Formats: sequence, C-alpha cells, structure tokens
Amino acid sequence: MTDPISSNFQVNYRYEVHFTHGVFHSDNPLLRTLLSRENLPIRTLAAVDEGLARSRPLLSDEIVRYCLPFSDRIHVVVLQAGESNKNTIEGLHELYRLIAQKGICRHSFILAVGGGALLDLVGFAAATAHRGVRLIRIPTTTLSQADSGVGVKNGMNFEGKKNFIGSFAPPFAVVNDFEMLATLPDLVKRSGYAEAVKVGLIRDRFFFDEIEAAAPELTRFEPQSLQWIIRRCAEGHANHIASGGDPFETGSSRPLDFGHWSAHKLETMSQFRLSHGEAVAIGIAIDVAYSVRIGLLDEDSAERIFAVLEKLGFSLCASELSGMDVLLGGLEDFREHLGGELTIMLLEEIGTATEVHAIDCAKMKSAIRFLRRRQTGAPRPRRSI
Ligand SMILES: NC(=O)c1ccc[n+]([C@@H]2O[C@H](COP(=O)([O-])OP(=O)(O)OC[C@H]3O[C@@H](n4cnc5c(N)ncnc54)[C@H](O)[C@@H]3O)[C@@H](O)[C@H]2O)c1
Ligand SMILES: [Zn+2]
Repeated sequence: MTDPISSNFQVNYRYEVHFTHGVFHSDNPLLRTLLSRENLPIRTLAAVDEGLARSRPLLSDEIVRYCLPFSDRIHVVVLQAGESNKNTIEGLHELYRLIAQKGICRHSFILAVGGGALLDLVGFAAATAHRGVRLIRIPTTTLSQADSGVGVKNGMNFEGKKNFIGSFAPPFAVVNDFEMLATLPDLVKRSGYAEAVKVGLIRDRFFFDEIEAAAPELTRFEPQSLQWIIRRCAEGHANHIASGGDPFETGSSRPLDFGHWSAHKLETMSQFRLSHGEAVAIGIAIDVAYSVRIGLLDEDSAERIFAVLEKLGFSLCASELSGMDVLLGGLEDFREHLGGELTIMLLEEIGTATEVHAIDCAKMKSAIRFLRRRQTGAPRPRRSI
C-alpha cells in the first residue's frame, strides 16, 4: 500500500443581487456593466418565460435592442413556462441545441428571464452545458425575486419527484427588476409571500411582526410593500446561504425548506394545480399545527401564524389533504432528497426553529385533520389546535 494522493482546495463564490427598475431600458446601465465586466466579446443567449413574453410582447425586441450595441452575438428564445417545462426534457434539449448552435461558450452569458420554474430549467441547462456557462438570473415573479432566484440551486422534476434532477450552481449575478412585477396575476404575486413568512418564522421574529403589520398593504399588492418584502426575504435568503455554513447542503439540515416536505408532495399530488407558494403556505400550516401537537409551540403563536397566512390570502387547506397516507410519503421523499437522517424543521416560537429527526405520524395526521376541519368550519374539539 502506498500513501493516497490527497487534494484539498477551496473555491470562493461571490455574486450580487441587484434591484432595479426597467433592466432593459436603454438608459439603465446595470446589465450592460455586468455583461461587460471582462473585456471580451459578449455572446448572450436570453431565455424568456413564455407567460412573461405574452404579457410583454415587445420584451424580446427590447432585449435585443439593449444588448446589440455592445454584443458580439445576442439570441433570444421564448420557452414554455411554468412547472410543466420542469417535467419534460424538451425545453432542456432546445437550450442545449441553441447553446451549441449559437456558439455560447463558458465565457458567454445566459440570461434567464422569468419565473422560478424557468430559472430552474435554464439554470440547469447553464450549469451543465460545457460544464457551466455564466448565468445571470432576471427573476420576474415575487417568489423568484424573493427566494428561488437568489439562491444557488436549479432543478427539474422526474417522474413526479420535485427537483429530482438538478445541481448547485451559484449564478454570475441576479437582477431583480421590480417593473416586471406589474403584469403578474394576483395569485402569482401572492405566492412569494409564503416564502417570506417562512423566513420570518425560522429566523427573524421582527420580520414576521412586520409582515403581520403590513398585511393590508401586501394584500393590495401596493408596490412599496411588495418591493420591501421581496428585498427583506431575498436578504434573509442570501444571508443564510452565505453564512449558514452549508451553502451546498451537504448535511441533512435544510432550514429554508421549513414547510416544504409536504409542500413538494402537495404540488405533485395536485398535478401542480397548487402553485409552489400556495403549497408552501399549507406546508407551513401543517408543520405549525404539528409543532403545537408535540408541545413545542404555543397555541396563540400558531393562531397568529394561521391568521397572517390567511390575511395574505392563502388557503390553509386543499382537497389533497384527504390523501393523508400519500402525503405522509412526502417525509421519505424529503429524507431521500436531503440524504442521511430525516431532518424536519419545526417551530419553538416565532423566529426560532428547531430540528427533529422523527415524526409521530398519528400526531401529524391529527394536525392535517385539524386544518381540514378549520377550513370546513366543522366543530373543533375542545382543544382548538
Ligand atoms: N431553485 C430553488 O432554490 C427554488 C426555490 C423555490 C422555488 N423554486 C421553484 O420555483 C417555481 C415556482 O416559481 P414561481 O412562483 O415564480 O412560478 P412560475 O415560474 O411557475 O411562474 C408562474 C407563472 O407566472 C408567469 N410569469 C412569470 N413572470 C411573469 C410576469 N412578470 N408577468 C406575467 N406572468 C409572468 C409564468 O409564465 C407562469 O405561468 C417552482 O418550480 C419551484 O419549485 C425553486
Ligand atoms: Zn420554496
């Protein structure tokens, strides 16, 4: 036996999350500055969310007009959007084909312009073509600006399993353009609020209090409140990635996935009728009700959390909650996805989360039944939660 060869190296990542209005307006220098950081000919492939393109028919032309003066090549492709594009391979193939045809190399840029689903798909293509092309994310939904677009992950679904395929790949930069939010339907606008409530609950009591106080303005989607919650949530998210000690989730713990074991299962059970944000709101409610049942969280705090989610416009119930055994299968899916020991985040109090490694299925079912009764207004047992 000879001594093994040992390699030990560190890679430092740094990227910025910018906030702007009108990223493709000719007088907005931000994106031009990002793309021109190195003195190289700039080749860009912009992948645009179809739903966004439908709402902004001139967007593709705007992107070309913005990039052309300082680009060697610019090509825009509009891709089918939403969760369905994460379920099939077609969008990915199209992107690989274009990357090859248009001469996009590791020093070129891919711009992903759209909602969280499009960012996940394009992010995976960018991370895997040529083993990694620079990606600039331009998220265009509340949820993607506040949460998914800010992080280091991409993902595609496989045979009903959410994000089964994917990689950890920090972007080159993120540009949150608040102007993009104007064309969002209310339901999609609201979705991101669930992730913000989650961040408040697991790590920032003050943020939760602020969301509670701002609920009326948030419900009316007032631009100032929308921009405030996105910024605060994105900050919480980015700080966790940078300073949480495990950006690429090598351990079994995943605090930012509070409420997500059931949310992911509910999304697939509903065949994606429930959006990610709607499912996360229900997932949070389930884990809050369970936290009470195992004596971790007090009932008043739980009622406060339910009330805030409901004030923001979320329903805390869905017909899929009647398929309890299938839903509980989400626990094992979640464990497999994280690897290692089952690790579920629960709440001790608002702003303080704790990990558990086993779930009492009878109590979890009772928490789910409670949410169903709550929705139907059926009489509750003496202990309300
Ligand atoms: N990678 C991660 O870390 C991470 C984290 C959280 C969520 N996600 C993923 O994000 C996805 C959810 O993202 P989402 O909530 O943005 O939904 P989405 O991407 O499905 O978009 C919702 C709808 O809004 C449309 N749209 C997007 N921008 C628009 C605009 N400005 N105007 C009008 N319509 C617009 C889209 O075409 C789509 O129909 C899920 O697939 C979820 O798994 C990923
Ligand atoms: Zn989420």
